Amino acid sequence: MGLDETVKKPHDRLSAHLAADMGRVNALIRERMASEHAPRIPEVTAHLVEAGGKRLRPLLTLAAARMCGYDGPYHIHLAATVEFIHTATLLHDDVVDESRQRRGRPTANLLWDNKSSVLVGDYLFSRSFQLMVETGSLRVLDILANASATIAEGEVLQLTAAQDLRTDEAVYLQVVRGKTAALFAAATEVGGVVAGAPENQIRALHTYGDALGIAFQIVDDILDYGGATETIGKNVGDDFRERKLTLPVIKAVAKASDEERAFWRRVIEKGDQGDGDLEQAMALIARHGAMDGARADALTWAARAKSALGLLPAGALRDMLSDLADYVVARVN
Ligand code: IPE
Ligand code: IPE
Ligand code: MG
Ligand code: MG
Repeated sequence: MGLDETVKKPHDRLSAHLAADMGRVNALIRERMASEHAPRIPEVTAHLVEAGGKRLRPLLTLAAARMCGYDGPYHIHLAATVEFIHTATLLHDDVVDESRQRRGRPTANLLWDNKSSVLVGDYLFSRSFQLMVETGSLRVLDILANASATIAEGEVLQLTAAQDLRTDEAVYLQVVRGKTAALFAAATEVGGVVAGAPENQIRALHTYGDALGIAFQIVDDILDYGGATETIGKNVGDDFRERKLTLPVIKAVAKASDEERAFWRRVIEKGDQGDGDLEQAMALIARHGAMDGARADALTWAARAKSALGLLPAGALRDMLSDLADYVVARVN
């Protein structure tokens, strides 16, 4: 990819605009991800943190705080907090999903084991709470503690929603709102709170993060059927293997003929999957326009995110957040 193309991505423009803050966030992450007492901890955290990751959630916190005029030190702590919560959930998620690739690298559960991933995930999660306490704001603690509980609820709800062809779009939305959008919404909201923004702006930041997170996860679910492993840094087809009812599948199942329904029962409900089944699933998803349907839903959520920004202070950061909403969906165009 040429430099010009990179510079055009709103995510990279946000990173460039917030480079000084982000440098401090990364330094704080490195400082706090270590442990003097258990060598396995820095091994695992360094593996994951040095692999990069888009740092989308800390960028959202920094952007929200700066957009609302914040000039103090604590947006750095909050940005590191949300990235720690995110990283902890990824460690746990890859165990639950039995995933083998993350951020273009083998997962920690593959390189070490499930025990290390679960325990280091717990460690990072606890470190995130230490970081947020340093802000001295009970309100911020309330928002991030609620988000953490909601993420776990979303992941657990997904357990029972998986392998069940009755899972509909309403349940899917509940799962996605929980496991993904809750942290996006908290990330933007705490940025406004730390800046002392007016309540209507704080609500708008929450709405923006929630809608952006939903659009983001819908797109992630589309890419699991149509992306390339090199670009997403994860294995394509993980959701099919895990028998998850993601939006493309839900839409295809809703339009399935009797014969197609028998296919879905076999591969999703019974888990009897063999060679060619993933390709067959992709073909059925395409036949019923389920990819386009899911993409259209993602666009609707991105539009909602953008319209929430109307209440926020105009300027370069607001424009970049608006472009970011378009960009998360453009990943599947
Ligand atoms: C992955 O999030 C988990 C989902 C919500 C789909 P990201 O795609 O933001 O992960 P990294 O941090 O960039 O690896
Ligand atoms: C993302 O869920 C993990 C969380 C949001 C907790 P997924 O399982 O759908 O995401 P990937 O594809 O592994 O990143
Ligand atoms: Mg996963
Ligand atoms: Mg998962």
